Amino acid sequence: MNKKTVTDIDVNGKKAFVRVDFNVPLSSKDPNATITVTDDTRIRAALPTIEYLLDHGAAVILASHLGRPKTADDVQFAMKPVAAKLEEITGRPVKYVPAVMSDEVKAAAAALKPGEILLLENTRFHPGEKKNDPQLGADFASLADVYVDDAFGSAHRPDASVDGAAYAMREKGGPVVSGFLMNAEISALGVAVENPPRPYVAIMGGAKISDKIKLIENLLDKADKILIGGGMANTFLKAQGHNMGKSLVEEEALPEAKRLLEMSADRLILPVDVVTATEVSADAPSEVEMIWALSPDKMALDIGPATLERFNAELQGAQLVVWNGPMGVFEVAQFANGTNQLAHMLAAMVDNGATVIIGGGDSAAAVRKAGLTDKMTHVSTGGGASLELLEGRQLPGVVALDEK
Ligand code: 3PG
Repeated sequence: MNKKTVTDIDVNGKKAFVRVDFNVPLSSKDPNATITVTDDTRIRAALPTIEYLLDHGAAVILASHLGRPKTADDVQFAMKPVAAKLEEITGRPVKYVPAVMSDEVKAAAAALKPGEILLLENTRFHPGEKKNDPQLGADFASLADVYVDDAFGSAHRPDASVDGAAYAMREKGGPVVSGFLMNAEISALGVAVENPPRPYVAIMGGAKISDKIKLIENLLDKADKILIGGGMANTFLKAQGHNMGKSLVEEEALPEAKRLLEMSADRLILPVDVVTATEVSADAPSEVEMIWALSPDKMALDIGPATLERFNAELQGAQLVVWNGPMGVFEVAQFANGTNQLAHMLAAMVDNGATVIIGGGDSAAAVRKAGLTDKMTHVSTGGGASLELLEGRQLPGVVALDEK
């Protein structure tokens, strides 16, 4: 993936339409409440691109979706709290027009001067966004001279602000480039897809295998070993004939799990012990049980110490590790040990020269909770987007960028 980025073009005196992913968690869903941003990671992640453009003489028009509003009436998803957070973080005034596309938006963009920031309203408030309406794409492109995509988290969405606007900008002769975040994401994840250093070990977790069948299939092609933990391991273990007690098992995915086990021979590594309890609760008594002797009234909620030891042995010497999905119910302290220990193991591997890439979503949250984000080679800001890229799919937001 050899795509152009902001440093490959002249932005001085230009207006840049920048698609960012400011789909951030909010303090409330109540439209009458005072809503604030509760986690600004994604806003901070786009700052290098925004600051670079401003410092190099560009005016910046920012567009993002926020949540999944059905219409503009879902005012609890308005960008106002994001504008406030952005002002706080950048220390610069942010002009906010509460419209996605209107005469007011066009006038505000036309009046924007180098060094200034304009934030548009939630792109999903416009009915044309999810339909990739060419008119909306052309209107976005008409606001600016260059199109910058720094929204890796949205790169798998063929929406008007991601796809249509990029093609409309190219049509009118303007450059279509990545921002620093997008560039870092596609470079880091691209290594795993295109040219993985070996040995390459993938670690998969999370609740369901049905969401990740394609991913596991693709990884069986690419990775030397796949370590499986979290709820999805239960379905594999049941497919192997183990009695999983009251554990979460996707009965309908058992045939797929059997098929993957047959494909993988000895390359899928499953837990040998788990932390169990009768319920998902901080107060429920828990214990470590071996997989072949699980109590019928218990559920598996974390991987156990013997599994961690096995995983550690498999990880020794790996040059590349990609981790997607927690090893247990890490939100509850007594079931977080497997996920935390694994995060620490991986941080130590980075110190020893391995490349460790953390997929977005829950695994990124777990690494952040363990205070180890800065220790990893790369922590993706994209949940669905990083999954689709690792599945080997082409992402519209990446495909649209100018080649170098
Ligand atoms: C994400 O949070 O994964 C992205 O912002 C995409 O959001 P979506 O799944 O609502 O399209």
